[in-house]
Amino acid sequence: MKYHLLVVTLGALACGALASTFTPARPPAIPLAVKSPYLSSWLPVGKDGGAGGTLAGTWPQFWVGGNTGWTGLIKVDGKSYTWMGNPRINNVFPPNVDQISFEYTSTRSTFMMNVENKILMNVTFVSPTTPTDLRRQSVIGSYLEVTVASADRQSHNVQLYTDTSAEWAAAGNGNKLAQASNPLSFISVPCFSNQNGIASHRFWLQQQSEFNQDVDGNDDADWGYWYYSTAATASMTYESGTDQNVRQHFLSTGKLQNTEDTNYRAINNDWPVFGLANDLGNVGDDGITTLYTIVHAQQNAISFNGAGGKTVSVPSLWTSYFRSDADLVNFFHNDYVNEVGAVDHAIAHDALAAGGQDYLTITSLSVRQAFAGVQLCGTIDKPYLFLKEISSDGNLQTVDVLFPSIPIFLYANPILIKYMLDPLYENQEAGLFPQKYSIHDLGSHYPQATGHPSGDGEEMPVEECGNMIISTLAYAQRAADKSYLSQHYPLMQQWTEFLVTDALIPDNQLSTDDFQGRLANQTNLALKGIIAIEAMSVIAKLVGKDADATKYTNIAHDYINKWQKLAVVTTAKLPHTNLDYQDSNSHGLLYNLYADKLLGLNLVPQSIYDMQSEFYPTIAQEYGVPLDSRNTATKTDWQMWASAISSPSTQTMFNSLLVKWINATPTKGPFSDLIDVVTSGYGGGQQFRARPVVGGHFAAMALAPTSAGAKRVVEAQGRAWNA
Ligand SMILES: *[C@@H]1O[C@H](CO)[C@@H](O)[C@H](O)[C@H]1NC(C)=O
Ligand SMILES: *[C@@H]1O[C@H](CO)[C@@H](O)[C@H](O)[C@H]1NC(C)=O
Repeated sequence: MKYHLLVVTLGALACGALASTFTPARPPAIPLAVKSPYLSSWLPVGKDGGAGGTLAGTWPQFWVGGNTGWTGLIKVDGKSYTWMGNPRINNVFPPNVDQISFEYTSTRSTFMMNVENKILMNVTFVSPTTPTDLRRQSVIGSYLEVTVASADRQSHNVQLYTDTSAEWAAAGNGNKLAQASNPLSFISVPCFSNQNGIASHRFWLQQQSEFNQDVDGNDDADWGYWYYSTAATASMTYESGTDQNVRQHFLSTGKLQNTEDTNYRAINNDWPVFGLANDLGNVGDDGITTLYTIVHAQQNAISFNGAGGKTVSVPSLWTSYFRSDADLVNFFHNDYVNEVGAVDHAIAHDALAAGGQDYLTITSLSVRQAFAGVQLCGTIDKPYLFLKEISSDGNLQTVDVLFPSIPIFLYANPILIKYMLDPLYENQEAGLFPQKYSIHDLGSHYPQATGHPSGDGEEMPVEECGNMIISTLAYAQRAADKSYLSQHYPLMQQWTEFLVTDALIPDNQLSTDDFQGRLANQTNLALKGIIAIEAMSVIAKLVGKDADATKYTNIAHDYINKWQKLAVVTTAKLPHTNLDYQDSNSHGLLYNLYADKLLGLNLVPQSIYDMQSEFYPTIAQEYGVPLDSRNTATKTDWQMWASAISSPSTQTMFNSLLVKWINATPTKGPFSDLIDVVTSGYGGGQQFRARPVVGGHFAAMALAPTSAGAKRVVEAQGRAWNA
């Protein structure tokens, strides 16, 4: 213990500066440019062995873990410093600027820095989220804004530099880099013959392989173009080439040579970088701001086996709004003025109201990650929202990943749920899945939505039937869209009939928590199936099928009575539901109960809600409530689902324990939803990272009556964008 303290003290002395503060929390990884499954760059933080969380001195990383080389240098009165990344330039590491503080909101990460009490810097990363404006949401781009001002009222001579490396085109791929078989080509869009005043470096993999991301097994896209851009002002210079040369040119002269290196080569062969420099001249009290954008442009995004029964290429939705990559990049760069944080404010307001500061700490960290797990595709007339089951196996449109995520979409814009469900319905209604229960996913490997025409794929029969029916009704209620229910009635009825046979006594099978293995008679799984039968009764009623409505509600009520007898352990000191009917020493988070509340069914008696709410605090560990009695893993999304329907004091407990985990975890990957409630590490021996299921953290906000939240987001955006 003493030794440990000594090390910490020496570390602090060696740094020679006050440690950065982190507000509202210090997350395991800080979102930098996080906008799609492929534009996903984070600052790894982790707490083991040191402070962590400083932008200067740490390489940003793709969600998988490999570096996305992204560098920031600054010269102040002739002396050079690093403000982003960890570049070694001809054997010298320029000293890091001091990070004073870090702060995040739903769409922004801001680092405040001090350069030897001469210059103050604010470095802000913005990945915009505009759920009710599909044109903006369709752009796969992220902003980096750097503001500098004098720290001591004196004026200082300042030059600013940043580059991206070719690693962005094969993000996270340390091994692949060595392969000469994977050459990279790059050119610069001519800077000053300019595209409407925007200068861009453009780079891409020479061997474009559409719809492939698995060639190297590292989840980066093997097709599409990358653009690193800034305003083409007179004080701007650019250069592409070997990292050492380009960066040294800046260190030596404060500017770049306006030259391009067009020698195609492997990414780690003299590491090509794409540099941009700005001579800011004499900087005084007035801040000077420079804006950079990183954009990933793929014409086609998904290969889809849908309604026609034959596989087609689905374009990125932005191609419906912009004629060319250049138009896209130009629009995005100039649109920054509209990024006034309206969504941040709406979410802050609603999260504080729904659960206080801890709840805001959790939800605001989840927004970019949730929206970066999905991608708008298709056309204006027929948009799709494709979802990637990031990190757990890379499946596409996984129904039990879509399902935990829906609260954020219900809150922010319910139509997005229809755009996620549509491809699943299209594929199955075309007769492309021969089972009587719902498909688990639309493809084993994103972005190939080719389905499972032979009926194979992972099997979660009760789970996915329940998820589809509940998600469909949740969307239809919020969007007042009865026709969607009529349109898909036959398939939903087929699934309901399956649930009537299989839900009350579920066979030995997987639930969504497949890392826990198979189990018969899962209490929480059965509850989902029964709730879905009642949901089908509501659906039948809405579309005028009264006989079906009566039939299904009678069955659901009969089942829920039987379920209570099988599920509730009355012999325990505090009664609670079991994990499976046959084990009275078991327990589990009864998160599927949330669906009863979400849909306003009132199928399950209030006594069950109260009983669980009183029970959870008695089994809570240091960092949360275990998912079930098998081990100390839990799911953050399911905790937030269970929390949303608990008493205020139990909600407070869930929220505060999860914030404790966020601040304490030694994990360095993007917000894991599978955590250990005792060690604060990953849960269950698997590293779940960057999964869109963190959208489930919005469970309490999605319960707001008739999408009050969505309305507020619309209004906030309308105010900002029409201003
Ligand atoms: C950085 O942001 C803070 C908070 O908005 C502001 O007070 C400060 O003036 C900014 N500093 C610079 C250099 O822009
Ligand atoms: C599942 O529960 C039913 C009803 O209690 C019981 O008859 C059956 O034996 C259970 N199955 C297993 C595998 O324990």
